[in-house]
Amino acid sequence: MTVRKAIIPVAGLGTRFLPATKAQPKEMLPVVDRPIIQHIVEEAVAAGIREIIFVTAIGKHAIENHFDRNFELEYRLEQQGKRAVLREVSRIGKLASFAFVRQAKPAGDGHAVLAALPFVDAHEPIAVLFGDDMIVAKQPGIAQLMATYQERQGSVVAVTPVPRRETYRYGVIAGTRVGAHTHAVRTFVEKPRPKDAPSRLAVIGRYVLAPELFPILRRQRPGKDGEIRLADAFGTALQLGVPLFAREIVGQRYDCGNPLGFLEANVALALQHPELKRPLRQFLRKTLRK
Ligand code: G1P
Repeated sequence: MTVRKAIIPVAGLGTRFLPATKAQPKEMLPVVDRPIIQHIVEEAVAAGIREIIFVTAIGKHAIENHFDRNFELEYRLEQQGKRAVLREVSRIGKLASFAFVRQAKPAGDGHAVLAALPFVDAHEPIAVLFGDDMIVAKQPGIAQLMATYQERQGSVVAVTPVPRRETYRYGVIAGTRVGAHTHAVRTFVEKPRPKDAPSRLAVIGRYVLAPELFPILRRQRPGKDGEIRLADAFGTALQLGVPLFAREIVGQRYDCGNPLGFLEANVALALQHPELKRPLRQFLRKTLRK
């Protein structure tokens, strides 16, 4: 079966961005001209996904509103003859079919996926996209994983090489290379110290979950911190001999979950923007000379 649905967990508190996220979701912070979450949704849509389930929590209404119509705004833009911006605004609600489920408590990314699973067919694979990671690539990041899923019929995690000193922030995999960008995963170590990391291939926030992972996730016990994590479910899957693949993402990934990565994404995307790239380049040159 092909991947038609995506789950996007957006229940996190965004503490790394306080005070900017005190009264607004971190997913609504803009990268150039649209919120991070719209970039993520557009990546999924560009990969052919038409149904998106957001896993939300209290305080995240702005995300629901963003992917809904806003008739009053559209009416006013129409009256003012602002056609181009009207098109941009009204297109957002039509990007896909959106559904929202609530995660009753912040109990881990696996727990968030479990909240959406009742709305997924037991036999259909699903894409999972985290709002923190932005991927800028010719072939959308999640489409790269979907291609690996089609070929291998097993769950797929996205990976990218990171400096060894940073492995403690990620799940790190090791395995056997089975294709130009694909590894059959043998080990998945969550947040290893650099000297214990089995490689420099770090897992980033894109997954395709094969249906055989669902029962494993349902049975997954909470870890030491009380959270049900996808990472632990992948570990269990490997112990049970359930195949797991890692796809090395071709493209640039920005960790928008921290202020530096967020700024890098803004600068990089603005430098590709038709109207912003020249004046921004001039500004950066001038500023860096000082
Ligand atoms: C989670 C995963 C980890 C992965 C990371 C990617 O960690 O558990 O395996 O590398 O996302 O962003 P978190 O950052 O939620 O602690």
